[in-house]
Order: sequence, then structure tokens, then C-alpha cells
Amino acid sequence: MAEGRRFYVTTPIYYVNDSPHIGHSYTTILGDVLARYHRLFGEEVRFMTGTDEHGQKVQQAAQKSGKTPIEHCDLYSERFKEMWRLLEIRYDRFIRTTEPAHEKTVSEILQKLYDQGDIYRDTYSGWYNVSEEMFISDDEVTEEGKETGRIVHVSEDNYFFRLSKYQDWLIEHIEKNPEFIHPESRKNEVLGLLREPVADLCISRPKSRLEWGIELPFDEDYVTYVWFDALVNYVSGLEWPDSKLFKTWWDTKDSHVLHLIGKDILKPHGFFWPIMLHAAGIPLPDQLLAHGWWTRGGLKESKTVTKELAAQAPVRHIRELVEEYGVDPIRYYLLREMTLGRDQDYSEEMIVTRLNSDLANDLGNLVNRVTKLIKQNFGSKIPPLTDPEFGEELREKAETLPDDVEKLIDELKPNLATEEIIALVRHTNGFIAAHEPWKQAKIGNLEGAGNCLAVAIRVLRQVGILLYPVMPLKSLALLEQIGCPLNESQMVRDSLDWNLPAEGTELPEGEPLFPRINWKDIEKKIVAAIPTTSKPEKEKAEDDESGLITIDDFFKTELRVAEVIRADKVLDADKLLKLQIKVGEEQRQIVAGVAEFYSPEEMIGKKIVVVANLKPAKIRGIESNGMLLAAKKGKKLRLVTVEGDEIGAGAKVG
Ligand code: ME8
Ligand code: MG
Repeated sequence: MAEGRRFYVTTPIYYVNDSPHIGHSYTTILGDVLARYHRLFGEEVRFMTGTDEHGQKVQQAAQKSGKTPIEHCDLYSERFKEMWRLLEIRYDRFIRTTEPAHEKTVSEILQKLYDQGDIYRDTYSGWYNVSEEMFISDDEVTEEGKETGRIVHVSEDNYFFRLSKYQDWLIEHIEKNPEFIHPESRKNEVLGLLREPVADLCISRPKSRLEWGIELPFDEDYVTYVWFDALVNYVSGLEWPDSKLFKTWWDTKDSHVLHLIGKDILKPHGFFWPIMLHAAGIPLPDQLLAHGWWTRGGLKESKTVTKELAAQAPVRHIRELVEEYGVDPIRYYLLREMTLGRDQDYSEEMIVTRLNSDLANDLGNLVNRVTKLIKQNFGSKIPPLTDPEFGEELREKAETLPDDVEKLIDELKPNLATEEIIALVRHTNGFIAAHEPWKQAKIGNLEGAGNCLAVAIRVLRQVGILLYPVMPLKSLALLEQIGCPLNESQMVRDSLDWNLPAEGTELPEGEPLFPRINWKDIEKKIVAAIPTTSKPEKEKAEDDESGLITIDDFFKTELRVAEVIRADKVLDADKLLKLQIKVGEEQRQIVAGVAEFYSPEEMIGKKIVVVANLKPAKIRGIESNGMLLAAKKGKKLRLVTVEGDEIGAGAKVG
């Protein structure tokens, strides 16, 4: 990140058929964090995000809600903007593909490609995936897709863009520019695609089937395929071709252009887009970063997963997470936890664990300790550093930290950059523990105590500035608490100064920045937020204030004796056994979390007690028809069984 360089970073433009969730939020936060770091390190930055508003699924979504397409788009693009406000996202431009200027650019590029013979007319017959807005091959068609209308068969005259003509050129470009697609695994994926024969890209839809799109400039009976339209946003948002913006941010060696995307849209970005640009005579972006997915129980986070998993693996919506933990901690969690390129599973418990460890225990604790000791022993005034060699090792670390962070940001490893910063915090906590300034003060060595605290508070100032891109609000608050308030425009490298905060500076009163989160309290709230229909019976019974139930309530639960006739381990689930049980004449299957306590062999022949009238459920995708009873204490578990052989399977318990 050399001085005087520019950085243009973009996110995908999101479809307006869905409200923003944690996945969209992640990419946009990543863009914001990178933008803020590049500014901090002295570059000029432009950050663009926006919404993708044409295409079949937007048309369908609008129809469903009884709105005109543009009314629908207005509403949903506003939802994204609202979410970005909540998440402290500072974009320079929010583009919407329904803006006339964007539509004009798409038209111009299409006309150019048509005039030079790169677009031709032909018949297309095949399958189309509406939710991905992509043509797909026969083996990608599923029955479920056909039934729900997500996958449709089309056979029609259309216009095609000669992708194949530029295939070899693109292979060469990617091989010559190893940094073009990041990480390497994604680069190889694109190269893999390109080494197969490729079909030309169908770039039109007849208006008879789809009206909601940009009309082809050379045939008024057609609209533009939504991906061709959407990709152009990256340059139409700079007013291509002749504007100052375009020359400043795209068409120059001085600007580094980075597209952030999720791996789901690697093909259009790594394959269609470079060829579209090259064919149109527009220079290519410098870099494409395809990150992995946020998953829950291994499934990609999306609108549907959110519904399916709501009862089993409840994680509240990002809006509620922000309300609960604050915007900065959530930004921190998302940035810190994901290694770019890999998928990352998450749960609310994982969030709490991370925040408690890094923010409450490490950073929050350091701030509290240092400020409290200065208040108690030095009348709230920062003590002098009388021995400049004191804490030299920490000073060195703190002074090389900016370079380390800058390098890691350049290498697209923001998770490691934040880890480095917190590592220094941890180190400083160790330093304080080793020097015990409270003890020094008690035995009258105020100078020693003062030196230790003066070093620690200087570290905190470095840390506060360097964490600003990730946690803008908390960083500003931290700097205020250590007596050196800065404003946003001062969040630049030049503000880093080991000699600050100066001795004698008075510390204001302040609230703890990162209080410890009590997971048990949170867990209760999450359970309470599950819709009552899917609440376990136990929870419903507790709704009565006295906590007591009637005998009728009790007999709603049908308890029966069952005999285990077969038991199997469940693959990839250490805790689960799959049991075949006999309940009277009937045989059924249940999944039980007892594998840590009983081997499959031990289970066979046992007469256990089961809840026989539970609604069937799927556990790890395996059908479970009932639940066994067991007593649990700490790490021990024992089954409730029926002794003797007078009473056989099927008998009622109660
Ligand atoms: O694809 N984990 O829009 P889209 C991580 N309009 N990131 C996720 C995610 C998850 N579970 N789910 C979504 C489109 N994302 C097109 C883009 S660009 C010219 C057109 C993020 O609303 C990730 O960045 O489906 C992914 O690529 C993007 O949202 C897809 O958003
Ligand atoms: Mg998508």
C-alpha cells in the first residue's frame, strides 16, 4: 500500500428477492474493513456496493407480493441500505441496476459487442435455474427444482456472446497473473472450467417470458440476461467510459481494483466478466477474492436454511445479534473467525465464546486494569515513563505491528491481522501480570508501577488505532478512555505515536467497553425466541407461572416400555446412536444422544422407557420417532429401564 496509490473495492450487488442476512453482511463488512485499513495506511479509497434488481426471480418475488417490480426493488434496496447503516458500513457509492445511467452503459457495451460480431442469434433449448439465474446442464436438474418451479425448461431463440472465442486468452491471463483469482483453490477451479469445452453465453431473454430487464439495443423483443447486466455495475458505477471517475479508479496503474465475492458466484466473475471486459476493450480488475460460506450445521446460510434450522440450531438474525452484542463485536467476530477461502460454521455459542475470550478477557480486561490502576494510584493522571528501556520488547512489538497489519491486509488475511493485534494485547496482559504494578504501588515503588502502566497504555493507543477499521465505534471509545480522543479523520497511520498518551494526561470516567457475556442468559433468550409451535413440550409446560402441571398435562405424554433390538453408531456424530426399538407389535427408529455412555452392544436387549407420542423429527438427517428417558448428572448418564421380565415392550408407564 504505497503512498499515493488508490484502492477500488466492490462487493457483489445483492439480489432484491431476499432480505440481507449474515452472508451478505459478511462480504459487505469485509469490504468496509478493507476500505478503512487502506485509508488508514494512506491510500485513497472508493468502496461500492449495491443491489441487483432485474431478472426472473425479482419479477416473481414482486408478483408474489402484489407489487410492481420497481416498487419491490425500492423496498428491498432500502432494506440493504438500512442494514449497512446498522453495521456501520461506509460505502462511497450504492449502485442500483435500475438506474438509467447503468442501463445506458449495459446497452452501450452490448451494442459494441454486437457490432464487432461477438454477439449472434441462435436457438437455445435446455434447463434454466431461476434462483441462480443460470442455464444448467441436464444432470444438474432435480425433481424438487422442477416441482417448485425453481428449474424450468426453455426452448427459444436467443442471443449469444462468444465466450469460447476468448477462452484461451483467459487461461493465459490467469496463468500470467497468479494474483488475479484469490485464493489459489478458486483460481484452479476457474482454470478447470476453462479447460473443458465451453458453451457461448446466452445473454438475452425474450420479453414474452421475462419483461423485467434492460432491453437489448439491437432487438426490442428481448431483455438482457441479468448476469450480463449485473456485472457491468462495476464500471457503470464509475461512469464508464470517459469520466474522471473511471480514469481515476479503474483505467490506471495507480489504482488497485478488487472485487469481493462469495464462492457461489465465482463462475460469472472469474469467467464471464473478464471476457466481457476484454472483448469490450476495457482493462481487467486486478483481483478477485472469493471467500467461503458461513454455514450452520454444515449448510450454507440462506433464507431457507434460516427457516429449516430455526428450531434445531437457533441463531438469531444478524439484526438481533447486533442488538444483543453491539455492532463492533459482531464485525469483530465475523472478521476474526473466517479464514478467507474456507467455509466457516457458526453458532451463537461460538460467537459468545470468541467475544468473551478476545474482547472481554483480553482487550476489555487490559483497558479496565490499566485505567483502574492509574485512577487508584496516580490520581487518574498518566504516570511518566522514566525509564525508556522499560518494556522495550513490548515497545518493539507495538511499533512493528502497523507494518505487520498492513502486510496481512495486503495479503487478504484480515483474520490474521486482528489476531496479531489481540496477540499484542494478550502479551501486554502478561507483562502486567509479571510486573504486578499493584504490588509495586503497595510497597511504595510508584515509579516502577508507573513505568509499567505507562507502557501498557501506550500499547493500548496503538491497538485502538489499528483496530479502528474492524471496530470503529469501540476504538474511538477506547481512545477516549485512555485520555487521547481522536476523530475519524485522524484514524491514519500518522496518528500512531509511541510517546502518547503523554504523562499527566487525565483519564475520564468510562463504562467497561467489553463486558463479559453470560452464555446461560443468552441461551434462555434464544430458546424463548423459538416459535412456540416448535418449542419442546417441556418449555410449554413451564409457561404456567406456578411451574406445576395437572395430571391431564402429564398424560399428554405417552410413556411406554420399549425393547432395543438393534443399535448403530451414527457416522460423524460421536454422541448419537441410531436405535431400532420394539414398542408392542410396532417397530420404530429413534436417535438418542447416548453413544458416549453406552456402546451399541450394551444397548441391545435393554428395556427402556420412551416418549411414544412425540412428533417425528430429523436428527442429523435421520428420522427419529420418539425419545428415550435417561437420568443425567454432570458428565454421567444412566438410562431409565424396567427391571425383570414380567412387563414386556409396549406396556404403558405412568
Ligand atoms: O449472487 N456465506 O446476489 P446474492 C458467505 N446478485 N457469504 C454469503 C452467504 C453465506 N452463507 N450467502 C450470501 C448474487 N453471501 C448476484 C451478484 S454481482 C455482479 C451479482 C454473500 O444476493 C456472498 O458475497 O445471491 C455471495 O457471493 C453473495 O452474498 C450473493 O448474493
Ligand atoms: Mg445467491
